[in-house]
Amino acid sequence: MSEAPAIHAARTVLVGVTGGIAIYKAVELVRGLVKDGFRPLVVTTEAAQRFVMPLTFAAVSQAPVLDDQSAWQSSGGWFQHIEAARTASVMVVAPATANTLAKMAAGMADNLLTAIYLAFRGPVIVAPTMNWAMNEHAATRENLRVLAERGVEVLPTEEGELACGEEGSGRMASPDVIRLAVRRALASAAAGPLAGKKIVVTSGGTRERIDAVRFIGNRSSGKMGRAVADEAYLRGARVTLVTTQPVEGPSYDVVRVESADEMAAAVGEQVRDADVLVMAAAVADFRPKDEQAGKIERGARESLTLELVRTVDVLASTARPGLFRVGFAAEAGPRLDRARAKKAAKGVDLLVFNDILAEGVGIGSDENEITILTPNGEVHVPRTSKTACAAAIADQIEAGLER
Ligand code: CTP
Repeated sequence: MSEAPAIHAARTVLVGVTGGIAIYKAVELVRGLVKDGFRPLVVTTEAAQRFVMPLTFAAVSQAPVLDDQSAWQSSGGWFQHIEAARTASVMVVAPATANTLAKMAAGMADNLLTAIYLAFRGPVIVAPTMNWAMNEHAATRENLRVLAERGVEVLPTEEGELACGEEGSGRMASPDVIRLAVRRALASAAAGPLAGKKIVVTSGGTRERIDAVRFIGNRSSGKMGRAVADEAYLRGARVTLVTTQPVEGPSYDVVRVESADEMAAAVGEQVRDADVLVMAAAVADFRPKDEQAGKIERGARESLTLELVRTVDVLASTARPGLFRVGFAAEAGPRLDRARAKKAAKGVDLLVFNDILAEGVGIGSDENEITILTPNGEVHVPRTSKTACAAAIADQIEAGLER
């Protein structure tokens, strides 16, 4: 994740930290929130302090840490929970243990953290973490259901090896996922035209199988599509990312595909009830006619000829009234003329042009320079982060949806 928009500057985020082994990730989360331009206000439980000294959080958050001790000792201590609840824009509990989640669901306020939760009126996000069996227990499931029903955003746990040595679902969402959820909680308060809309975004380069081990692929990193998906998620959209790339701890639905045919099938299925399609993926135009069984052997061959056939044009095949479509044109050179022709040929609402030969931008890079072709003219976005490019694209989608 790169820079955050300035609108978040100086907003206070209450970070409730409870006693789970994933607490080391909370340190990284607090650092990340500072980088995003927030003022984290950390409140820990007694159990949390057995894992990490408050000094660590004070250092990374650049602010004193609130805990049960400080609540009783300071002069205005009785009202510390009310004061903290008043100053913050959003509250996130990470890691959230089964015990704290149970207290939150029951409305208990026997420590500073749970008292602040009860007194807080803004959006609340929890990132549970626990052993898989505790996570599956009917009591935990019920507590999480109750919290979700009351509007708390419950970030899903991840599958994998747990601190107890067992495998299962119980790992805390990554700090990046939590940071994105914090930004979304604040951004969706200012609901724009993308809020609640279903947007399907594609990303990455497809792989067309030659045989059991080889494929024809391209160098697309999937970063531009991922940035658009993140931006749409931040604006409150219901996002489905159809991608050829692994996505760590996604905040939204992800459908993994490999080939152009698989991408066509997945997109076809997903756009049925979608409002917007953004085709940022680098889809192969040709694939081997037949996938060879096993592995093609070199043997005595001096050359090898592959017969390639055209793939389906996913973008062109998804045209229907009511679906706002965005295409990309990565051209070798400043070929805006080709991009304009492509926009007309594919009948898209927006076309995002970039020159893959331009220095330091495009494939694999974190930066891009784009021109967005819209029905009302062309918007040039000079070289900047892919995050900023994604925001410019989302602005144009929102403008288009309002037309
Ligand atoms: N696209 C697609 N399905 C394909 C090929 C491309 O949906 N089989 C989409 C891309 O995701 C992109 C847009 O079409 O949004 C333009 O892709 P591009 O490769 O630039 O154009 P092509 O249609 O392949 O034309 P050409 O190769 O002649 O430039």
